[in-house]
Amino acid sequence: MPVKTIIEPFRIKSVEPIRWTTRQEREQLLRAAYYNLFLLPADDVLIDLLTDSGTGAMSTRQWAAIMEGDESYAGSRSFDHFRESIQDIFGYKHVIPTHQGRAAERILFNVTCKKGAVVPNNTHFDTTRANVEYVGAEAVDLVIPEGRQPSLKHPFKGNMDVEALENLIQKTGRERIPLVMLTVTNNSGGGQPVSMENVRQVSKVCRKNGIPLYFDACRFAENAYFIKLREPGYESRTPKQIAQEMFSYGDGCTMSAKKDGMANIGGFLCTNDDSLAQLEKDLLILTEGYPTYGGLAGRDLEAVAVGVQEALHEDYLRYRIASTAYLGDHIAEQGVPIVQPPGGHAIYVDARAFLPHIPPDQFPGVALAAELYLEGGIRSVEIGTLMFGAAAKMDLVRLAIPRRVYTQSHVDYVVEIILEVWKNRDRIFGLKLSHEAPYLRHFTARLEPVEKVLAH
Ligand SMILES: Cc1ncc(COP(=O)(O)O)c(C=O)c1O
Repeated sequence: MPVKTIIEPFRIKSVEPIRWTTRQEREQLLRAAYYNLFLLPADDVLIDLLTDSGTGAMSTRQWAAIMEGDESYAGSRSFDHFRESIQDIFGYKHVIPTHQGRAAERILFNVTCKKGAVVPNNTHFDTTRANVEYVGAEAVDLVIPEGRQPSLKHPFKGNMDVEALENLIQKTGRERIPLVMLTVTNNSGGGQPVSMENVRQVSKVCRKNGIPLYFDACRFAENAYFIKLREPGYESRTPKQIAQEMFSYGDGCTMSAKKDGMANIGGFLCTNDDSLAQLEKDLLILTEGYPTYGGLAGRDLEAVAVGVQEALHEDYLRYRIASTAYLGDHIAEQGVPIVQPPGGHAIYVDARAFLPHIPPDQFPGVALAAELYLEGGIRSVEIGTLMFGAAAKMDLVRLAIPRRVYTQSHVDYVVEIILEVWKNRDRIFGLKLSHEAPYLRHFTARLEPVEKVLAH
């Protein structure tokens, strides 16, 4: 009989205490943070689901590799390990280390885009969009229509709309499109995967038009596992074989190793194009560092070299995808509205549907995130009207799961708290802004309840 219980495929060798606070303390802390969870000291958070980026736990093998770090400025042995491990999976000719994903993006768009260029993506992550726009280019999101409907179930909601891509190329002219990008998995669309079939089709259109295809590869291992689970023909392939095939349809990638690199810092940029690689390395030296370290310590290179391989271990991915789905399924079956189906790295609660009595201009996502903290010390993040202003199409609360950090009982606790808040949702008030910065206001915004009292 197959065993149904999914266990963490690791044992714990080193522990980090987390701190309980009382509800009364959290009320004070929340007021002191102006209802913005970014302004909370992390020590006052019990379960931190703010992000899965750089928050993972490293393995004994990674820590051992860290001790092997070669800190030579040029020609470091650790860079060879880094390059070899990445090439083994990604297969690209040039591997350029960067301190994190956005540095790879900045370099890529600087060397490939001019003012007036157009970059299609299934959905640009916010730093990707910002780096495209910074060089005067236009970032266009072409996810399939199903990817824009939160409650709709579809196995590959991260897919790009291939017809829309072809139309865009026709309308814009291929010479204005320096590259096409596919974000795997599609973070801004709920951590939803892209199918191999879609990668093939997008690649075909790109090759027909002579446009390079790049991956935003942050969560490539989770995407590979979704393909294994959901796409006919891939059941018996390993996640690594699937990732290798996927990357073979592209010409390069950007990567934040803080996600499926299983590291706390790091990233890289890959390309098969020799002349582009030269330009990229020139720019790298200017702002990141020499091409054999690119802003990272030798020990970081070692941690990533091991981490990208560990992210593809099947036992790990089975637990990773199952525990995220467990959280999503257990709240959804009690009626909590979430983006369906559960993504790889996070659960996104639909705050507009959760709190229909709070209009978007009273920040239902922020109000819900504040209430989850108040109820159980859980930190999440709003992705909605506070983050995007009036342009926000949805108000979501993202619960991102750090890799290998929390156990089943932590997830059960999160489920219990969310269901408690769900039961008392009518008592939650909206919020109004008392201070906002001119850019990226969600990081520093100050808010206060529309009603004078704290919820309850
Ligand atoms: C899809 C995606 N692309 C790019 C990035 C940027 O990576 P970093 O935070 O390492 O700069 C992120 C980070 O969250 C991401 O999720």
